[in-house]
Amino acid sequence: MSDSKYTRETVLQVHPWVPGKLLSITTTRSPEFEFTAGQFARLGLPAAGLPDEPPTIWRAYSMVTPPSQREFLEFYSIVVPEGEFSPRLAALRPGDSLYVDKTAFGFLTLDRFIPGGATSGGGTPTHGDLWLLATGTGLSAYLSLLQEPSTWAAFDQIIVVHGVRSVQELAYRERLQQWSRDGLPEAAGLPRRARLTYLPIPTRESFQDMPAARLTHLIEDGRLEQLAGRKLDADVSKIMLCGNPDMLTEARQLLKTRGFAVGRRGNPGNLALENYW
Ligand SMILES: Cc1cc2nc3c(=O)[nH]c(=O)nc-3n(C[C@H](O)[C@H](O)[C@H](O)COP(=O)(O)OP(=O)(O)OC[C@H]3O[C@@H](n4cnc5c(N)ncnc54)[C@H](O)[C@@H]3O)c2cc1C
Ligand SMILES: NC(=O)c1ccc[n+]([C@@H]2O[C@H](COP(=O)([O-])OP(=O)(O)OC[C@H]3O[C@@H](n4cnc5c(N)ncnc54)[C@H](OP(=O)(O)O)[C@@H]3O)[C@@H](O)[C@H]2O)c1
Repeated sequence: MSDSKYTRETVLQVHPWVPGKLLSITTTRSPEFEFTAGQFARLGLPAAGLPDEPPTIWRAYSMVTPPSQREFLEFYSIVVPEGEFSPRLAALRPGDSLYVDKTAFGFLTLDRFIPGGATSGGGTPTHGDLWLLATGTGLSAYLSLLQEPSTWAAFDQIIVVHGVRSVQELAYRERLQQWSRDGLPEAAGLPRRARLTYLPIPTRESFQDMPAARLTHLIEDGRLEQLAGRKLDADVSKIMLCGNPDMLTEARQLLKTRGFAVGRRGNPGNLALENYW
């Protein structure tokens, strides 16, 4: 094991979803790198024009791949045209180097929640619902969670809401649609597993019969619950929020009035969140 705080990985593949705006990048994974589904890594690059120097620019990226995928790591990235890091990440090609900090971090892990859900008002025991609400690339962390069979075993229903500006930005749509139809193949042998509802919601153009509205508005006016066919019930629902910080602030406020709160140390809550900037 090396003493360095980071490892040097090799880019295996770059997949553009929306050229110049959205891409996924796959790299080798060091055996030294351990993480929990939902966490993020710090990715590093050397200063521009100094490809052989040590990395000096670091940014946080959620893992898309699950911890059980030991062969490679996948990340899903936006390109911020004026950004220092993301245009350079997008310019990497197979064989290029990308540095990964050995320590993973993050709040979007299932251990943030009360294990196994709760019983609702003394009624039928339930494992509860997991709501995964994302804007833009905030979807990344959920893809890792969704590829872990244990996530499917822990809930009755999983609802993925992906708010994006336009239809073309619905990355990973086919995979999510397949999981909502067939479930996760790796979870097929479990005695019980959640069903997945996938709600792809572009805000600036119409898509199928989805309302072109921000997910915060859909929480507020009750349409999100109608679309999901489930209640946002603080006793049985667990909610994750990820992506745009303004969305997080507004959604957190709305959900507070419905009984949702982030856990404190040693006291799990029913809300977990991660700001992306
Ligand atoms: C915990 C955590 C996890 C993250 N995971 C991801 C991830 O999985 N995928 C990803 O693309 N980014 C992710 N980010 C954001 C990422 O770290 C970078 O900020 C981003 O790639 C842009 O880097 P930059 O240097 O080009 O621009 P920066 O100087 O870092 O950002 C410039 C501006 O770009 C905008 N911006 C930054 N990130 C995003 C974004 N993801 N979507 C929309 N606008 C953005 C903001 O307005 C920001 O002020 C994460 C951030 C955090 C804190
Ligand atoms: N160069 C370009 O042409 C170009 C174009 C687009 C983006 N960009 C880059 O991409 C970044 C934006 O990325 P993005 O589109 O993934 O992120 P985003 O602006 O956060 O938008 C993603 C989704 O979140 C919604 N949203 C935004 N604020 C919200 C809030 N307060 N509450 C609820 N929902 C909210 C948006 O709805 P709305 O549609 O209603 O805002 C949209 O559906 C920009 O910072 C820019 O760097 C570049």
